[in-house]
Amino acid sequence: MTLPQGVEMSHIILERFLSPGDIALDATCGNGHDTVFLAELVGEEGRVLALDIQAEAVKNTQALLKEQGLTRRVEVLQGDHSKLKEHLSSLADSGEAKKSKNFLQAIVFNLGYLPGSDKEVITEAETTIAALKQSLEFLALGGVLVVVLYTGHDGGEEEGREVLAWAKELDYQKFNVLHHKFLNQPNDPPQVIAITRR
Ligand SMILES: C[S@@+](CC[C@H](N)C(=O)[O-])C[C@H]1O[C@@H](n2cnc3c(N)ncnc32)[C@H](O)[C@@H]1O
Repeated sequence: MTLPQGVEMSHIILERFLSPGDIALDATCGNGHDTVFLAELVGEEGRVLALDIQAEAVKNTQALLKEQGLTRRVEVLQGDHSKLKEHLSSLADSGEAKKSKNFLQAIVFNLGYLPGSDKEVITEAETTIAALKQSLEFLALGGVLVVVLYTGHDGGEEEGREVLAWAKELDYQKFNVLHHKFLNQPNDPPQVIAITRR
């Protein structure tokens, strides 16, 4: 038995919070692996919004969803997650969204660069934090926001530091914040932050 690493840990947490019929957001869909994971959990009645700034990522995510027969549950958009409020309006037609502004039961940000790419596009502290703040406004009571942080690439350490500082300052009367980190491993293993609305 081994302890869960970053992505595995993020999936353990997401699985705990998502049920069939829920609405979820993948704010950095990349090659689509997290999007597929969310789409399986929300089932046929649920919906996922998947967003990425790169056309290549949108294409890869759409291809993986097609391969898995999950396209009908997911809306994949090319866009900047720091404009999340505008993008989330595309979910406004759904029944749940009409009932409450806090319609997202789970949100995932898997930060860094697109695996397999030239690493020219990376998530960055300023836009990431703007997106995280906006996403929390849509998080359901009892829902979860999960961030997987990578600090080993250029720019990653600064982003990680700023995201952790932001998360640490969230009002404990409104949010619970968990930080998952291996303390004694080399090579900057990914870290996970999970935030629940109380
Ligand atoms: C680590 S990858 C995501 C991996 C993905 N979750 C998967 O399962 O394959 C990070 C992604 O964030 C995207 N990204 C970077 N800046 C962004 C931004 N401002 N808005 C949306 N996506 C962004 C990158 O294009 C990249 O695909």
